[in-house]
Amino acid sequence: MLFNDKDLKDVMLKYSFAKKVLETELSILIEEYEFNNGYNPVEHVKYRIKTMESATKKLSKKNLELTVNNLVRYVNDMVGVRIVCSFISDVYKIVNIIKTSKQFIVKNENDYIKNPKNSGYTSYHINILVPIHLFDKTEYIEAEIQIRTVAMDCWASIDHKLRYKLPSNIPEELEQEMLLRAEEMSDMDKKMDLLNDMLRKFINR
Ligand code: GTP
Ligand code: MG
Repeated sequence: MLFNDKDLKDVMLKYSFAKKVLETELSILIEEYEFNNGYNPVEHVKYRIKTMESATKKLSKKNLELTVNNLVRYVNDMVGVRIVCSFISDVYKIVNIIKTSKQFIVKNENDYIKNPKNSGYTSYHINILVPIHLFDKTEYIEAEIQIRTVAMDCWASIDHKLRYKLPSNIPEELEQEMLLRAEEMSDMDKKMDLLNDMLRKFINR
């Protein structure tokens, strides 16, 4: 292990602070939304700190030296949040809440729902800087937020399993099958959004 122990402990502590801040602030924003709008757009939320094993793998894959500097610079999902919603429209509501909230600085965002990855992967990614207030200073720690529907989550979780189980790259046949499943999943999500519109009309009658 090439990481300097003390620097690594320091940065890991800050990641855990950022996770705590995010847990509190995101849940407040969601609860406030529910209070104002009478419904909660979120199915469930998962917060995690990436394991050192997984971070080391990522750096090695990118051919980067295992240093704390490279960890902070290139592993931009050490603090990760996954927000799972019922409907596509809810995903964009959450995106809007995060982008307009004053607490976080948006570093970059990727709409893989409008522009899916080559694998067929869809989700909305926002990388933010979370301020953590320490005794004598404020530091900004990066976190990656993935926002997706239940259907997108189902696809991504199966895709992850396939990739994890296979020793090397995913075979072409499987890749094609997963692309077809991604299309079906996306069709279903669009239909579910229409169903939600119908439901809203009934509720507001
Ligand atoms: P990284 O170097 O991993 O950050 O890749 P990137 O910058 O090209 O992509 P991005 O940061 O937007 O997304 C990375 C994360 O999205 C991964 O850690 C996964 O959680 C998820 N992801 C991206 N592509 C796929 C995919 O094809 N399948 C699955 N299951 N998840 C994916
Ligand atoms: Mg990335």
